[in-house]
Order: sequence, then C-alpha cells, then structure tokens
Amino acid sequence: MTDRHERTLNYLRLGVTDRCNLRCFYCMPEAGIAYSPRENLLTYEEMLRLLTVTANLGVNKIRITGGEPFVRRDMDKFIANLARIDGIDTVNLTTNGTLTADLVSEFKNIGINSVNLSLDSLDRDRFFDITRRDLLPQVMQTLEELLQHDIPVKINAVVMPGRNIDDLVPLAELAKDNPLSVRFIEEMPFNGTGRTYENFAWNHTAIERHLRENLPALTRLPFVKSATAQEYKIDGYRGKVGIIAAYTRSFCGTCNRLRLTPQGVLKTCLYDSGVFNIKDFMRNGATDSELAALLQNAVHGKAKDGHAAEAGRNAAFESMTSIGG
Ligand code: 5AD
Ligand code: SF4
Repeated sequence: MTDRHERTLNYLRLGVTDRCNLRCFYCMPEAGIAYSPRENLLTYEEMLRLLTVTANLGVNKIRITGGEPFVRRDMDKFIANLARIDGIDTVNLTTNGTLTADLVSEFKNIGINSVNLSLDSLDRDRFFDITRRDLLPQVMQTLEELLQHDIPVKINAVVMPGRNIDDLVPLAELAKDNPLSVRFIEEMPFNGTGRTYENFAWNHTAIERHLRENLPALTRLPFVKSATAQEYKIDGYRGKVGIIAAYTRSFCGTCNRLRLTPQGVLKTCLYDSGVFNIKDFMRNGATDSELAALLQNAVHGKAKDGHAAEAGRNAAFESMTSIGG
C-alpha cells in the first residue's frame, strides 16, 4: 500500500484494548475513564481477519499495543495466532510490564520478536507519582526476564518536567551493561483530560542537551529510515539511547505506520482523529476485497505529516489508549 506522498505502509500498530491497570497521568485521568463496552471492541476473530487482509496488502509488521495488552484475556493465544498469519514477519509488543514477568519465557514461542517496555522512572515513589500504582518491582522483574531470554528490548520513557527529569540519566545508564535501547519521548497532548502544552520546554533539543551534559560521550548515529527515534551511542555502553520527537514531529517524511484502535477505527496518523470505523463495515457484511479497497483508499489519503493531520482533527480529549499507542 502506498500513499499520495509516495510512502509505503507496511506497519500496523494494533491497539488490542483500551483498558490498563496503570493510570499514567500523561495518558489517562485518574478516575472516570469511559472504557468501551465489550461489544464496541473488535473481537479477536475480527482482528485476525483484518490482519489477514492487511498482510495481503503488504503489511508485514505488527505492533501489539493498548492500553495494556495483557489485561485482555487470552492475549498470549491471540498473539500466537496472529504471528502465524501468512505474510506477517514481525510481531512486536508494547507493554507496561506489570503483568508479564511470568509470561516472558513464552514470548519467543508465541512469536513475539521484540518488546518495548514503558518505564518512566527507576524510583519507586516517582513511579507511583506518575502511574498512580506501586508496581515498579513487577516491571523490573519483566525487564530482567526479557534480558535473560535474549528478547530485544527498548525502554520507552516519556520526559515530564517536574516528574522524572532526575530519572533521565539513570534510565540512560541502563544501556551501560545491558544490550537495550533507552528512548526518551517528548510528551504528547494525549492524556484524556484535554490538558494542553503551552510551555513545551522539554523538546528533543532540550533532552539531548541534558543527556550530553551528563553523558559527554554521547554520539549521534545516522537516522534510520521509517524510524521515530534519533539514536545515539555512548562509548563503553553495550546498548543505545534514543530521542523520539513525538510532539515536534520531525520524522513524518518516512512514516510507514497505520493504526487500528481497539474499537476498529483506522488512523493513518497518530495525530488524526480517525478515518473511519472498519468494524461497522465488517459487521455489515463487507467482503475481504471490499475491506481491502476501503483500507487502500484511506491509506492513499494519509496526511503529509502530523501537523497537517492535527489541523484536520476534532478530538482534544483523546488518550493514547484510544489511539493505539
Ligand atoms: N506522550 C508521549 N508518550 C505517551 N505514551 C502514552 N501516552 C503518551 C503521551 N501523552 C507512550 C507510553 C508508551 C507508549 C504506548 O506510548 O510511554 O510507551
Ligand atoms: Fe497504561 Fe501505558 Fe497509558 Fe500508562 S501509558 S496508563 S501503562 S496504557
């Protein structure tokens, strides 16, 4: 599938649930979250059917995201089934790591190729302050298991002034002895509360400056096509560090991503408000080739970049859990 800006889309981020057992303040309000009733969510069967259609259109790379994927029942079985679909080569997982320590030993068997672990602080109190739950030890256990089982792992840390600036260097230092990549993400205005960012001080430039002041050996690596992170190496480190300009949006030119929300809304950009709901078509009897045509048509209209997509958007109260991570 290609769009009118000559980008090939081969990567689908699949939000498998809007629920989560954490309440990260940059993602969700503390209470009063309007979770979707079950009948509004795509069933596993519907998702597998859609992924078969998109695989036939060249979408060979899937990321499972949420919400927290593992709050949905039988997630491991679902992932094993989707990894077996013809044409799907890579299955990656984004998780908060709180429910997964005992499951990691099965990850390779069920077909998970790599894991992004959301981890914004290594300090138990600050972790609690950010996520409103006291579950840091569980996350660290998942991290240990992932490393022990040689599963490629990236740490995702959202950079939040007043909350975790003191954590940035300790988080980066995880890459010293471990072969993992620690990525710092600009905070985006998707917190489910409508809170916006008038004082956006901690952009990618400020993050880089802060890291460089503390880790002088930081060396910028060439930017990889279709990547979101600018990566860096540090002499003497086994792993790498990266910065994701998620709010600045400097990487849209080579974007290869599509998103499907847990409710079945197709998004061709993180910053758009959804192109259409494919579940409605499926439940009204659309054939596979009709679904394929709908998808191709939507992809063709993908916005040039996240700023153009945002200009056309109407939902200021979205949360990442309804966007597909
Ligand atoms: N800004 C930046 N990143 C976010 N994430 C969730 N909400 C936001 C936000 N408002 C990140 C989480 C997780 C991934 C699914 O998205 O840290 O790693
Ligand atoms: Fe849950 Fe991830 Fe949102 Fe945190 S950022 S509340 S872990 S879905």
